[in-house]
Amino acid sequence: MKFSYISHLHCPKCQTKYGSDVIQQLCACGSPLLVDYDLQELKKHWTPASLAGRSNDLWRYHELLPVVDPENIVTLGEGMTPLLPMDRIGSAMGIDHLWMKDEGIIPTGSFKARGAAVGVSKAKELAVQELAMPTNGNAGAAWALYAARAGIQASIVMPVEAPVITRNECAISGANLNLVNGLISDAGKIVGQAVKEYNLYDASTLKEPYRIEGKKTMGLEIIEQLDWKLPDVILYPTGGGVGLIGIYKALQELVELGWIENKLPRLVAVQAKGCAPIVKAWEEGKADSQFWEDSTTIAFGINVPKALGDFLVLEAIYKTGGCAIAIDDAELLREQADVARLEGVFICPEGAATFSAARKLRESGWIQQNETVIALNTGSGIKYPETVQVEVPVLEPGERMTRG
Ligand SMILES: Cc1ncc(COP(=O)(O)O)c(C=O)c1O
Ligand SMILES: [Zn+2]
Repeated sequence: MKFSYISHLHCPKCQTKYGSDVIQQLCACGSPLLVDYDLQELKKHWTPASLAGRSNDLWRYHELLPVVDPENIVTLGEGMTPLLPMDRIGSAMGIDHLWMKDEGIIPTGSFKARGAAVGVSKAKELAVQELAMPTNGNAGAAWALYAARAGIQASIVMPVEAPVITRNECAISGANLNLVNGLISDAGKIVGQAVKEYNLYDASTLKEPYRIEGKKTMGLEIIEQLDWKLPDVILYPTGGGVGLIGIYKALQELVELGWIENKLPRLVAVQAKGCAPIVKAWEEGKADSQFWEDSTTIAFGINVPKALGDFLVLEAIYKTGGCAIAIDDAELLREQADVARLEGVFICPEGAATFSAARKLRESGWIQQNETVIALNTGSGIKYPETVQVEVPVLEPGERMTRG
């Protein structure tokens, strides 16, 4: 048995193949590259029973991950987050089997830890010494911290308005942090320039092929946690869309391994009304999206006006019979409070958008009462203290409180 069954990289646009043992960024045609594994060979030795007794983190799926030598793994214990039943809010929505995959308790406080763990580990394997990336906050924080653990120097550029805590995570880990008075797309241009000028490894979303492999493990875990049975619907808060592309890739690989049947869950891209390029493209039946002007939303991680992998997100939606839906900020904030009040979890605004989407899709009949529905909470609400406005009485010592 090999540790990893990675075979090569391929371009989903022009089908060119590339080796995976040297640094590759985009395909010569400008498309992101995807990782291929020798699934036919792996299938001969590997079954769900092989996972018994393995570490309770995402490295339990190492055969389907790109790191060839276990010595290169950079880990903070990420993965195998809980899949929680959400019965009270589910019943309020009229959904009998509503679950939440809770990424709020993973290292660095968001699911970006998965992409960073696998991306940084592979960067280490490829002898990268300096990387750079634009971010809406959480990804930069995760990559800065994992890069610190790997001994790789990170340069991060994020919008001034990104959650302050993510700025602090970058700063304390010793990253070269720059803020930009603009959006992630503006940060991307600055990074692009620096990458050329200083010959850095470009860790921008989908400009290196391995982050998606880390995010793919959310899909593997959900299915393993459901005992290799498929849910009907998975809702994902979509910015760059890497998580959704990754979950779709995980499902396809499991089908090819023969571990699940080929009746994939309907994948739903959830966006904010103030930044919904994928929703617009889906409504118009297009294969890719257009830049969304003047985008804005409190769900900062999904404020991505144009995603490099938009065509892959749309393909995953079309091929699974899914859909795309936009939620406004007031709705998602209400939902965030409902989830805390009814279920005891302080989820992030991006995650809250997936619950609003489930509610709306149930109301419209797109989701049926008896379907199994998974909402992805991609991070901890604790990272976004400003989303909660509190008005509480302040007592003097000895004063009596009212009963509430
Ligand atoms: C909490 C959170 N949710 C969702 C997203 C969107 O992720 P993706 O780029 O995979 O669409 C982000 C990205 O920054 C995020 O921070
Ligand atoms: Zn290509």
